[in-house]
Amino acid sequence: MEKIIIHGGRRLRGEVRVSGAKNAALPLLFATLLAPGVHRVDNVPRLRDIATVEKLLSTLGAGVSWRDDLFEVEVGELREVEAPYDLVRTMRASVLVLGPLLARLGQARVSLPGGCAIGARPINLHLKGLEAMGARITLDHGYVEARAKRLHGARIYFDIPTVGGTENLMMAASLAKGTTVLENAACEPEIVDLAEALNKMGARVEGAGTETVTIEGVDELRPLRHTVMADRIEAGTFMVAAAITRGDIRVEGADPAHLGAVISKLREAGAEVIEEQGGVRVRGPRRVLPVDIKTIPHPGFPTDMQAQFMALMSLGSGTSIINENVFENRFMHVCELQRMGADISIEGHMATVKGVRGLLGAPVMATDLRASACLILAGLAAENTTEISRVYHLDRGYERIEEKFNSLGAAIERVRE
Ligand code: EPU
Repeated sequence: MEKIIIHGGRRLRGEVRVSGAKNAALPLLFATLLAPGVHRVDNVPRLRDIATVEKLLSTLGAGVSWRDDLFEVEVGELREVEAPYDLVRTMRASVLVLGPLLARLGQARVSLPGGCAIGARPINLHLKGLEAMGARITLDHGYVEARAKRLHGARIYFDIPTVGGTENLMMAASLAKGTTVLENAACEPEIVDLAEALNKMGARVEGAGTETVTIEGVDELRPLRHTVMADRIEAGTFMVAAAITRGDIRVEGADPAHLGAVISKLREAGAEVIEEQGGVRVRGPRRVLPVDIKTIPHPGFPTDMQAQFMALMSLGSGTSIINENVFENRFMHVCELQRMGADISIEGHMATVKGVRGLLGAPVMATDLRASACLILAGLAAENTTEISRVYHLDRGYERIEEKFNSLGAAIERVRE
């Protein structure tokens, strides 16, 4: 097992480039299953989750290879229609093969993901949508089995906007007979990226990025050529790093159009945020001002930035209230921040963060991906040394994280326990 050691208290300065977005790359790579041929996707980040995609695509019978950041998928006759438990439990996004497999092959068998560190995360809305499109869904020994000769278009209303559900149904509907309308769809930028990719493959998707997405099904699709969008959550994490270390960082590739809520909250916290050509520059405030945050689906404040902001607010000059409204259990980082001297109490979905003057390094444990990022940020600002164990969570979603932070003047090392 590896752990990360951070010698805190340094101001971070300089320029850092964000990688391709994990949450855009995952659905895109599964979308390749929709069409035979050789697909080329550029700017794919080298992450543990992408390695899981490679395994899953290979299990299904596709050929995968890398040329630098270019990810190539060769899709021929697929020999399997099953996403096994071992892969789904390491990466829930594996359920995104359901739509493509069902649409292309008429059947799919995908392990039910079960709960995870941030909440129950059911996939009932994915399944309800596929049923409305004519799929027969059964549950067999922990696996969802879906069958349909050919899916047909349908009008589908999501009870809550779901990112994965919107993506799964967009992919399935691309090869369905007739038109599908998704209402109360999720509006995240990653959905727009997927829609653009599907349209490059010959699909007819309109309205992605709004609450109503219309997909006119086509008979076949062609191989994909696409460049994955920049990772807005990685960008946001570096922006908070500038604020929490009173540093000055230009985040190359950060797109302000994707980061509206984060930029606005950083400004409220006293940081100077400058939207520049090709990136965003953040200068940290002398003292962080307290800011209240409510996570909601895009364009609201992203749940994937909640933990990082909590690290920042723990050093605020007053009390901040953080409401987590997307996932029911996404405050696992609180106990770890408390070990570093933060003053935080939780009641249900609400955390009350009373700012302290400083954090103190401590041994802490990462519990999920964004919680790990929160602890890195806290460690960067803390006095002395912070040791973070279970860093494999971090490697699921941040590419070369210590190298990138060290290039900005941080002192982070990775050691074997
Ligand atoms: N939900 C249901 N039923 C469903 C689907 C979702 O009740 O069928 C609920 C979930 O339990 C949750 C809410 O709806 O409470 C939103 O979940 P959503 O489906 O939007 O999340 P997701 O697709 O599973 C993606 C990201 C997450 C990110 C969320 C919210 C990917 C691969 N994952 O998850 O990213 O937090 O959207 O923005 O895109 C991360 O990167 O650290 C991460 C967890």
